[in-house]
Amino acid sequence: MKVGVFIPIGNNGWLLSQNAPQYKPSFELNKTITLKAEHYGLDFALSMIKLRGFGGKTEFWDHNLESFTLMSGLAAVTTKIKLFATAASLVMPPAIVARMASTIDSISNGRFGLNLVTGWQRPEYSQMGMWPGDEFFATRYEYLSEYIQVLRDLWGKGQSDFKGAHFKMDDCRLSPQPQAPMKVICAGQSDAGMAFSAKYADYNFCFGKGVNTPKAFAPAAQKLIEATAKTGRHVTTYVLIMVIAAETDEAAFAKWEHYKAGADTDAIAWMAQQGAADTKSGGDTNVRQMTDATSPSAVNINMGTLVGSYASVARMLDEMAEVPGTEGVLLTFDDFVQGVEDFGERIQPLMKSRVDVDTPVPSQVGAPEALAA
Ligand SMILES: Cc1cc2nc3c(=O)[nH]c(=O)nc-3n(C[C@H](O)[C@H](O)[C@H](O)COP(=O)(O)O)c2cc1C
Repeated sequence: MKVGVFIPIGNNGWLLSQNAPQYKPSFELNKTITLKAEHYGLDFALSMIKLRGFGGKTEFWDHNLESFTLMSGLAAVTTKIKLFATAASLVMPPAIVARMASTIDSISNGRFGLNLVTGWQRPEYSQMGMWPGDEFFATRYEYLSEYIQVLRDLWGKGQSDFKGAHFKMDDCRLSPQPQAPMKVICAGQSDAGMAFSAKYADYNFCFGKGVNTPKAFAPAAQKLIEATAKTGRHVTTYVLIMVIAAETDEAAFAKWEHYKAGADTDAIAWMAQQGAADTKSGGDTNVRQMTDATSPSAVNINMGTLVGSYASVARMLDEMAEVPGTEGVLLTFDDFVQGVEDFGERIQPLMKSRVDVDTPVPSQVGAPEALAA
């Protein structure tokens, strides 16, 4: 199974809690995490794009770096790990994104790919006068379908004359083209989002569900299998999941309960209000589930959580790998620096689905400073 890390480009990672570690995003922090991930043989690092936070006492996600510029810096200091940036397709023209991707492909020697999002949170775009109106909720994957055709034209043949409802290219050029095939992630979960992934993406990322219910995401993987049966393309499922691990199950659950006790209720309420704003896309968007303030896991955006000893978490990750169509997981942690280290030292060596990973034996693992050398 492939393993990636969803690096904390926004403050406090994915925990909306006053009791969770409080930190601002920085290049240094993300560099430390990504170098550690590379050191332990993790396959990729992905950063999201978030242009407006949720506020509250923790100022949740009010502080965010920009995804392409962050990954560009990380490309220059890494050598092996694959890197993915997220394109906010509403505000970044595809010809510019194609060129930025080509540039990071050059910096990384072919280790770069893209996560394409339509955007689900109106204020991210209305704050800059770039929200096309709420009808966009219904048409966003038609828009993204045109967008990716322009990208594929430019990456594949260096030229586009694509003409659609949203984009009109006129002998648009791109050179240099990427040296490696540009891989595209989409995390659409609605029928339209899945259909888009099946037709155009290489990977579909879905939300894990529940606490210690590692296979609860299986319906999303099945939905993708059905969607790709219609397109005949090979697209695999990756699952977003938070790991809260400790020496014992009890110690890990004590951390999880502590985070929940400190939930930032104002930030969670705002998130829920945003998630309910889409009344146009037929109601099948998973944003509602992800922003359900009444769920006990609202404190981490209901992303699906593995809580337990290192051995328990390893066992549950192996169970996830058994779900048909699943190729990998995208991990978040309560404390990313410690979390990636614990994953590399204590969890990964116990995973049957990671036996072939080329990682250092524990005795050779150096101090964090040595990793940057
Ligand atoms: C791993 C992962 C990463 C995502 N990254 C972003 C992001 O950076 N920006 C964003 O606006 N939405 C992001 N999303 C939301 C998705 O793009 C998508 O809108 C959401 O899963 C709802 O699916 P739907 O668009 O089909 O309704 C992400 C979702 C997942 C699971």
